[in-house]
Amino acid sequence: RPRILSGMQPTDDTLHLGNYVGALTQWVALQDDHDALYCVVDLHALTVNPEPARLRERTRRTAAQYLAGGVDPDRATLFVQSHVPQHTELAWLLSCQTGYGEAARMTQFKDKSAKRGTEGTSVGLFTYPVLMAADILLYDATRVPVGEDQRQHLELTRDLAVRLNTRFGEGTVAVPEAHIVKAVAKIYDLQDPTSKMSKSSSTDKGIIGLLDDPKSAAKKIRSAATDSGSEVAYDPVAKPGVSNLLTIFSALTGRDVYAIAADYEGKGYGHLKVDLADVVVDLLVPFQERANGYLDDPAELDAVLARGAERARELAQGTIDRVYDRFGLLPAGARR
Ligand code: TYM
Repeated sequence: RPRILSGMQPTDDTLHLGNYVGALTQWVALQDDHDALYCVVDLHALTVNPEPARLRERTRRTAAQYLAGGVDPDRATLFVQSHVPQHTELAWLLSCQTGYGEAARMTQFKDKSAKRGTEGTSVGLFTYPVLMAADILLYDATRVPVGEDQRQHLELTRDLAVRLNTRFGEGTVAVPEAHIVKAVAKIYDLQDPTSKMSKSSSTDKGIIGLLDDPKSAAKKIRSAATDSGSEVAYDPVAKPGVSNLLTIFSALTGRDVYAIAADYEGKGYGHLKVDLADVVVDLLVPFQERANGYLDDPAELDAVLARGAERARELAQGTIDRVYDRFGLLPAGARR
């Protein structure tokens, strides 16, 4: 079975609908016929300097949401990034192979560092994509299911993989490919349907949190910004607001966007919103029950994560041994 890996940052109390539709549902779909590794990337979250108790809580909450969304720890390897020290070991080797200019060109870094200024920007934020490359290359993952916003980071990861194989010999690491499902790879903010739904938006009115109160989530859908005109049609350029709602509707029901649009012919935006609000509530209520079930039993949750980390460490050590050797690092205590 082909190996895949993906992760999400525990930077908020809840994942949002973009994470769910763009990533989590893909993870679940892929876990049957892939050797899937899904991690909570807590080390990445350190780049925003979280309060320690919060980070710990959010790490568990993120894992609980993976499970609530359908990640099955008996089929997929579910773990916390910091439980596998090999991630940071490989990250150092990769950072010595990454050009300064190459890292400085990452658009997410440019956006975030522009907002924070040089003094407010940590070196960790700069090397963030290198750690992400390590997450992937450590397991020889060949596919990486992510949303559109991670495409550039995946390209850097591929470039690094090819570079390692050129410098240190074929087979040093596997060259991964992004798995981006175009139709759902970018879910937009409900209030500002030309920017992506993101935890860093200025207002939370445009973001549906998976652990939000379902009633307030329904209200956010019903008050989503829509476009001029009144006809429901899938047209992302002319009607970004309605098209975003149709995309979400389609992703949550498995129905075709055009078929859904046809149902609302002559009915106006309001009907679509009311029905989508119901669809979202029907997702959130059982999702939250499952998530709370895992959160009510942290010992069991931690046991699941420990089991995943054990397998991950085993796989990761194989790569570290191979890559350290190829780089010419002297094996500790070995008479090779
Ligand atoms: P993060 O935590 O920002 O987001 C998690 C996943 O959700 C996707 N996503 C979206 N998809 C569609 N529409 C949206 N509005 C939307 N917002 C977010 C993201 O593309 C991502 O797939 N750097 C990564 C975490 C990471 C990672 C990795 C991913 C670290 N190491 C290794 C894959 C492999 C990130 O910040 O994702």
